[in-house]
Amino acid sequence: MKNVTVIAGPASEDLARKIARKLKAPLQKTQLRVFPDGESKVTFNSKPKSGTCVIVESTYPPVDTHMIHLLSIVAKAREHSSKVILVVPYLGYARQDKEFLGGEIVTIKVIAKLFKAVGVSKIIVVDIHSKLALGYFKIQKKNVSAIPALVNEIKRMKLKNPLIVSPDKGGIERAKKFAQLFGTNHIALDKRRNRKTGKVTIESKELEEVRGRDLVVIDDMISSGGSIIKAAEFLKKKKCGKIMVGCTHALLINDAENRIKKAGVSKILSTNTIPGSTAVVDVSGIIADEIT
Ligand code: R5P
Repeated sequence: MKNVTVIAGPASEDLARKIARKLKAPLQKTQLRVFPDGESKVTFNSKPKSGTCVIVESTYPPVDTHMIHLLSIVAKAREHSSKVILVVPYLGYARQDKEFLGGEIVTIKVIAKLFKAVGVSKIIVVDIHSKLALGYFKIQKKNVSAIPALVNEIKRMKLKNPLIVSPDKGGIERAKKFAQLFGTNHIALDKRRNRKTGKVTIESKELEEVRGRDLVVIDDMISSGGSIIKAAEFLKKKKCGKIMVGCTHALLINDAENRIKKAGVSKILSTNTIPGSTAVVDVSGIIADEIT
């Protein structure tokens, strides 16, 4: 694609630089100033370019703050550019994709309308939580998968008779795809979450197949760590071998990483959709491939 500029939002500078390098496109940075009342002011380092802008900004915590930065950057870029492609590697609010309890607002639907209103032509996300969430975006859209890259990374570990585990039934397709690429089999636990309290329980019963095997627990994201901790505690009781965890988006709120390790997980691997200590898999290449 000709006449492309990559714009780095404050939350995703490193990933934006890598994408720009892959596209052989110039990188434009933004600067952030936060006022005493908490309002943000995002400023472009130079005048936004005409042509196509690729804006890269992940919306990990503080989610609402990153979301407003992103909307502001798109609105400004759109004043000068003919086309805005928005890369949101981790799309916050994607879990709020339906009315689970009466009266709830489907916030991802609101976000989808906002993106269109500020002038986004195409959105690229990585392993979005649900297809339902993506369905609300009435613009060009692409969900890229980091699973093959995660498989390659985890294959380098020396695992004994590995079994792929999804912590819940909703993630079974992800675990199946992962297992196929890995060349092994998969299972899904029966996780329940109380919609009012958020408390997680694992309701699975006998699971003879995990005994003595190294496990790779796969999820789209880790937030508080509650799901992975419950899964790991349950699997340890079933006398499994080593437990590894692979996910695309590691939010790891508060001390989630330590609590997960304490629950018996030997390693957590994630991608750089969210920067952090576990983010060893680079998704810039699979994102750049979609910018055509
Ligand atoms: C749920 O369906 C998701 O795939 C994740 O399992 C969940 O959102 C992770 O959240 P937490 O780490 O707080 O349990």
